[in-house]
Amino acid sequence: MTLDISHDTSRDAIVGDATLTASRHSARLDVDAIASDNTIDELAARGHADLAAGDLRAAERDLLDLLEVATVAQREAEVLRLRATELEGLVRAHSTELEEHQLETFQRLAVMAEFRDTDTGEHTIRVGDLSAEIGRELGEDAAWCEDIRLAARLHDIGKVAVPDSILLKPGPLTPEEFEVMKTHTTIGAQILSGSSSPLIELGSIVALNHHERWDGTGYPSGRQGVDIPRCARIVAVADVFDALTSVRVYKHAWSHDDALAHVLAGRGAHFEPEIVDAFQRVIDRRLSASNAPVLRP
Ligand SMILES: [Fe+2]
Repeated sequence: MTLDISHDTSRDAIVGDATLTASRHSARLDVDAIASDNTIDELAARGHADLAAGDLRAAERDLLDLLEVATVAQREAEVLRLRATELEGLVRAHSTELEEHQLETFQRLAVMAEFRDTDTGEHTIRVGDLSAEIGRELGEDAAWCEDIRLAARLHDIGKVAVPDSILLKPGPLTPEEFEVMKTHTTIGAQILSGSSSPLIELGSIVALNHHERWDGTGYPSGRQGVDIPRCARIVAVADVFDALTSVRVYKHAWSHDDALAHVLAGRGAHFEPEIVDAFQRVIDRRLSASNAPVLRP
């Protein structure tokens, strides 16, 4: 804020960022602070009046009053600035703490989900990693891929409610048992849905939809095509490929090539074609990386 008072005066003063400059023909006050406009207007008007009346001393006193107002305002502004900075720091620390708590809760949920995984938790981790790689191959941004890597770990969390007699049955399931097994999708969604955490909400979507099929023949809802959330369409490919290449109580581990051929055969039926193509590129890259010669210095 700048105030100008013109008359024959002569005075200079500097206090902090407020500068009072009075010359023979003008007086100017730069106020780089918050001040009461009414107070300043009133003082400035008095200064003008004093100068008009030829009372130089009175004008100087008014200018000094103005300067004092500016200095006080500047001090108050500095206090406000410090308080705002302190509050900002508190909010930032609290947010980080909340995010850390949220992530820890999520990881504990993932551990719980993995207790029901017959592959000591490795399956869910591999499905998460492969899903994230497919996501990156599809051009999804890094944050989304990281979210899907974590959310995919919860895809089978609903199995906590499936009895061991069904979950760990060494042979094929009866139609009734299969119906019970299917409920792990809806139960998983019930466990995770309604969360204020976007990550857990994503986990809920994945849990509910990872057994849906592109052609609409999946479960629990028979959703079809792009009506199936994209995250679940990606996890579906990763889940099937990894399950086939793993040993289960009811099956041996398929060879890498057989599992790959199975997924490719499901292109456009079980799985979205674009996602299968991205998956194939990821697998090819993994293979060429594992076959790359080790260079010695
Ligand atoms: Fe599942």
